[in-house]
Amino acid sequence: MNTWRLDGATTTLLLLARGEGLPEIVHWGARLPSLAAAEVAAMRDRAVARNALDEDMPFATVLPTLGAGTFGAPALAAMRDRLDWTAEFRLDRVEELSHGLVLHASDPVGRLVLEITLGLAADGDTLTQQVAITSGAELAAGVQHLAAGVFALPPRVRTLLTLGGSWGHEFIEQRTDLPMGTLAIENRRGRTSHDRQPSLIGGGGELAEDAGEAWGVHLGWSGNHRTTAERQPDGSLVVQAAALLHPGEVEVGQGAYFTTPEAVCAYSANGLAGLSRALHRHVRTQVLRWPGGRMSRRPVTLNTWEGTYFAHDEQRLMAQATAAAELGIERFVLDDGWMLGRRDATAGLGDWTADPEKYPHGLLPLARHVEASGMQFGLWVEPEMANPDSDFLRANPNATLHVEGRKRRTSRHQVVLDLTRASVGEAIVAALERLLGELPIRYLKWDMNRELVAAGDEFGRPAYDGQVRALYAMLSHLRGKFPELEIESCASGGGRADYGVLRHTHRVWASDCTDALDRLAIQRGALRFLPPEIIGAHVSDSPNHQTGRRHTLGFRAAVALFFHMGVELDPLALLQPEQDELAAWIALHKRLRHLLHAGEHVALPAEDCRSLLGVVAADRREAAYLVAQEASPLHAIPSPLRLPGLDPAMRYRVVAPPPQQMPERHSATHRALFGAGIVLPGAALAAGFVPPPMPPESALVLHAVREGG
Ligand code: DGJ
Repeated sequence: MNTWRLDGATTTLLLLARGEGLPEIVHWGARLPSLAAAEVAAMRDRAVARNALDEDMPFATVLPTLGAGTFGAPALAAMRDRLDWTAEFRLDRVEELSHGLVLHASDPVGRLVLEITLGLAADGDTLTQQVAITSGAELAAGVQHLAAGVFALPPRVRTLLTLGGSWGHEFIEQRTDLPMGTLAIENRRGRTSHDRQPSLIGGGGELAEDAGEAWGVHLGWSGNHRTTAERQPDGSLVVQAAALLHPGEVEVGQGAYFTTPEAVCAYSANGLAGLSRALHRHVRTQVLRWPGGRMSRRPVTLNTWEGTYFAHDEQRLMAQATAAAELGIERFVLDDGWMLGRRDATAGLGDWTADPEKYPHGLLPLARHVEASGMQFGLWVEPEMANPDSDFLRANPNATLHVEGRKRRTSRHQVVLDLTRASVGEAIVAALERLLGELPIRYLKWDMNRELVAAGDEFGRPAYDGQVRALYAMLSHLRGKFPELEIESCASGGGRADYGVLRHTHRVWASDCTDALDRLAIQRGALRFLPPEIIGAHVSDSPNHQTGRRHTLGFRAAVALFFHMGVELDPLALLQPEQDELAAWIALHKRLRHLLHAGEHVALPAEDCRSLLGVVAADRREAAYLVAQEASPLHAIPSPLRLPGLDPAMRYRVVAPPPQQMPERHSATHRALFGAGIVLPGAALAAGFVPPPMPPESALVLHAVREGG
């Protein structure tokens, strides 16, 4: 009998091997005191169930397989010429890392070899898992399924929260009670997808924002995926996260390893907001790789898409850049429409030079003008795609992912280039290197506007997995060659927002929907797994281009303020008072961003259609809150507004900073709130004060600062 444990800041993973097989997960949750091996075994000891195998088999090993006597979904499906289809692994040795374990295991009958790497940083509460497999036999083994992570959640987990939706309505939360059986979230779109995030949260009862246990699982992978939660005979829940493989896609031959993406599971004893805090810390410390090793201040961005679309006019764009700089904008991103022949979505994609009709001297004059205006220049690209109506595809008609003899379907009039083919990958990299070499580009908005259909490589084999790996390699190559470059992962909005792509990129565009009301829900869902500073949120036009809804500038700006803030409209079309107000919101964002982009997330359950999220500094000296009245309140007087996360014993001054203006109906307290501020102890603010009445679809930003510094 052997036991192993990993400890995080407030968590413990306990493993037990009773025989020679893979260890069983005894506990993954709140921190436990040190335990002797016999005590761990006693925790797990149980009578054999009636009508079951005579030997008590663990339900949740680190990698359950059919041959090992479990009846739940196996974490591995592999086969060699119709044989060796059942697996049972023997634990050969365990390597101890500073914050993790590598379990080396083999199946002598099936001649498969595994390396399972588990990690839990001592100052974090996120358990990571990744699996590598190889075959010791002469004949290669086909791998149809291999879970990256297997996490055991206790029977008291009754409610699951998943994130999905559709284009323009991503990250929408759905809650499900799981009966006996399995819940599976599967995606076959070839990118992370808008409708099925590789993320799942489990918890007891109602899964509250601010209290109770929660476990959150995520797969860091930008392709097809499969996440399952399966109730076991003892009521516990086994959650598996895997890249979804197509038949014939992966084979392992002698010595060659296939390595899964990394899966993550975080634990929180402090509700969903606590879970987000653990996951945000994980992304900040273990996923993102910033130029120079440190995130610089997130530059307020102007993205030209909704203000210009394809109608690029060099002179007007220069004037927009000048106006943007006057608003306080720090990065100007030239979106789609600049490529050769790119009059609309039907042509030009794949021809990575500037259209001479729109840019007679190329992009350099505009880029220089942007720089001279004191901003960074960023450029939109969509390197994985081409229009059939492009010089590149006319010259290389077979550069696409396709299967000979099958229909090559287009989407947004474009096809997907086969990144697994060396010649295609090299052509794309050469084009990007040329752009990055010739222009002062500090930022690429890397778009990906379609899904993969019958994605075969040059031999007709499925290339879904290979395409993602080739993309990562391409991004990594460019980052190596241009170390100062930042990249945004955009895929028609939030279609590729996962920890896999975030190892190579620095921002996600959460959604093509910029409607402030819709964005509240989208950003709430995105925040579950992603920290706010990497979620792009833009102030756009009213009426909104996607929904037609009208919103005040104040509401639009407040909703974008807490994230990586940007503007997506033509600044030349703003009236002077709007320019002044927008400049004031941008100034407020700049004043708060040290807090907004590094602090800890807090949230409360919605009350009377009013939601609250906030950011609290690690030392609790300062906090900011976004209060949104999403629909008309039911009650005549607003319910007390509670401000969570503050030090109960300290006094705070709370202000509704400018450009916010006091509403017509207000009290003396509200006059103070919109003036010098109200001063109350943290405990009183946590209990709540009555805020001013708020109309539907409006927001209030509050800033709390500890009195006396
Ligand atoms: C989809 C993106 O999400 C938009 O922001 C914009 O870049 C368009 N593509 C451009 O085609």
